[in-house]
Amino acid sequence: MINGLYIKYEYAKQMLQTELEILLHSFEHKHGYNPVEHMKSRMKSISSIEKKLEQKGLNNSFLNIEKSITDVVGFRIVVSFISDVYDIVSLITHSPNLIVKERKDYIRTPKNSGYTSYHLIVLVPIYLENVVEYIPAEIQVRTVAMDFWASLDHKIRYKFKEEIPEDVQQKMEEYAKDIQELDYKMYYLNQVMSKYQ
Ligand code: GTP
Ligand code: MG
Repeated sequence: MINGLYIKYEYAKQMLQTELEILLHSFEHKHGYNPVEHMKSRMKSISSIEKKLEQKGLNNSFLNIEKSITDVVGFRIVVSFISDVYDIVSLITHSPNLIVKERKDYIRTPKNSGYTSYHLIVLVPIYLENVVEYIPAEIQVRTVAMDFWASLDHKIRYKFKEEIPEDVQQKMEEYAKDIQELDYKMYYLNQVMSKYQ
């Protein structure tokens, strides 16, 4: 039952991969540099979709997935500098091929955990026999430093599940601030450097 829907998400992932590659390539061509350290994508597994529906108290149906899960397709773009995050977000939001459904700037407003990143939910057109359908996808844009923090945070959450020790939590909040400070310092240094030939 779920398979017919799942395949649409796979098409959307392919469409978005191509769209992002072209956007990033044209950016590089125009600005003469490539800000992207790496880009990754993943499909949320059917079991994770089911788990998430359960957490939201919804039963496993086509409609509930379409209505309430926007990250079946997920992309993560990791860049060098904090300014690159906003350049990439602007590039994506100006694409005539994508519709921005939602944006969350967790850099300006970090999550309670300390987590920082820029999240976009975009609608990706997929071209079926006689119709165009729009499929949601989540794009996370962050710096290498933010990615470093998020990957340790992920490990901590996996290890401790819901009960992260208070001191570990506090340290992570503190390090998130250190990382943000460092991101700004690196950005300013890069600005200074660009003045030299
Ligand atoms: P989800 O139900 O997890 O999708 O949360 P949401 O719908 O409120 O979306 P949000 O944009 O807040 O977060 C979605 C994704 O961001 C998660 O699946 C993670 O990949 C990432 N994320 C959010 N908060 C954290 C965090 O505190 N630590 C880490 N490591 N990742 C986070
Ligand atoms: Mg999500």
